Amino acid sequence: MNYTGKFVLAPMVRSGELPTRLLALRHGADLVWSPEIVDKKLLTCTRSYNSKLNTTEFREPNGRIALSTYKPSEAGKLIFQMGSSSPELAVKAGLMVINDVDGIDLNCGCPKNFSVHSGMGAALLSTPTLLCDILKSLVQKVGDPNNKPISCKIRLLGDLPSTLELVEQICQTGIKNLTLHCRTRSMRNREEPLHDYVPEIIKITKKYNISFIINGNLRNRLDFFELQQRYGPEVGGMVAEGAEANPSVFSINPVPWNEIILEFLQICFKFENHPSNTKYILLNQIPSKSKYYQKFARMKTNLDMLNLAKELQVDKDEPLNGKIKFRHLQKERLQTIEQYSAWKKEVISKLSQDIENVSLGPIDFTKEFSDVGVESSEETVESKSHVTDTNTSTTKITTKRRLSLDNTLPHKTLKST
Ligand SMILES: Cc1cc2nc3c(=O)[nH]c(=O)nc-3n(C[C@H](O)[C@H](O)[C@H](O)COP(=O)(O)O)c2cc1C
Repeated sequence: MNYTGKFVLAPMVRSGELPTRLLALRHGADLVWSPEIVDKKLLTCTRSYNSKLNTTEFREPNGRIALSTYKPSEAGKLIFQMGSSSPELAVKAGLMVINDVDGIDLNCGCPKNFSVHSGMGAALLSTPTLLCDILKSLVQKVGDPNNKPISCKIRLLGDLPSTLELVEQICQTGIKNLTLHCRTRSMRNREEPLHDYVPEIIKITKKYNISFIINGNLRNRLDFFELQQRYGPEVGGMVAEGAEANPSVFSINPVPWNEIILEFLQICFKFENHPSNTKYILLNQIPSKSKYYQKFARMKTNLDMLNLAKELQVDKDEPLNGKIKFRHLQKERLQTIEQYSAWKKEVISKLSQDIENVSLGPIDFTKEFSDVGVESSEETVESKSHVTDTNTSTTKITTKRRLSLDNTLPHKTLKST
């Protein structure tokens, strides 16, 4: 497991469930973080294998799924994020999950009350001894014995010396990666991240041979190119809200919103994602001005949402179809493919380093997830749906068109020199 120079999906409670992670991986994310799960909650869960979906599940006593992983796509790429304020509980929870994930990350950045009131998340930034004790325990008792990396995600402190002192302490715990959300605890995501301390932090992480990932308002792979151009090809980039709005932003050719929701809903249907979670994420992906926004908001099942998504592909009265959705400091931006291509050309022309192709990941949608329950196959979706033959065939053509576009313009990454 190597985090160096990777472009990754951020941990996101609610939004970073299995369908978002699978879609991000399909479109070029190198690694994906699970949503934060608190150690105490994980310890109440029971692990089981779901033979229909070929997933490994951790279920709470009330039957709710706390974590579900689909290893054919996620193996080697899934980082489990934990909330903790206790070295002992962190170790217990870590041992429970370590065989099903590829690394464990400690959340030291969440400013929400439910986290900080019990000493977790961003509260750990004010208790560095405890923070480092948790990391050391995880490294020595969970990571090292299982040959898996431990990492942590922090925010900036209020000034440079205290931030650097904290980073220095964290880097001595044996972790393999540090992610910095480039905002302070009191800053909101609509505010521009601060990069002033980044060069000094990079020096420290390099001294300890620890990889470094930068997080904060990266919209897409073009922003990641520019980040690596500024700080070197070894830095990684992590995207949260940008990927919540469009999980294909990891690709150099992100997908228009109408196509991404179709892919997303197909995955939600196949993996029986909870419909309220499906809807929550879907409404982040739909332009707020689309007439479909309210229609989806009223729907109750994955299948109904999937059928409506199929219908809207061929709706000539939806002027937003074909536009790519990005999010910039919590504001929605829609671009035509031509506008995005011009942006891409401009960014690539400014890069001093070579760009090399990286693999596309699975591109044959017909084979992808073919081991997942027969009952949730594409045929069943179509036979149960009210969509006409014409709509269905148009949907398929759309998917093929985009794939051939991806084939000619694969994901690219900056080449290390
Ligand atoms: C819906 C949502 C859920 C989040 N959940 C987590 C979480 O579980 N753990 C965490 O460390 N950060 C969490 N975050 C913070 C993000 O990982 C990220 O640090 C932050 O959004 C800044 O990145 P961005 O500017 O790319 O959005 C969450 C953010 C959002 C929008």
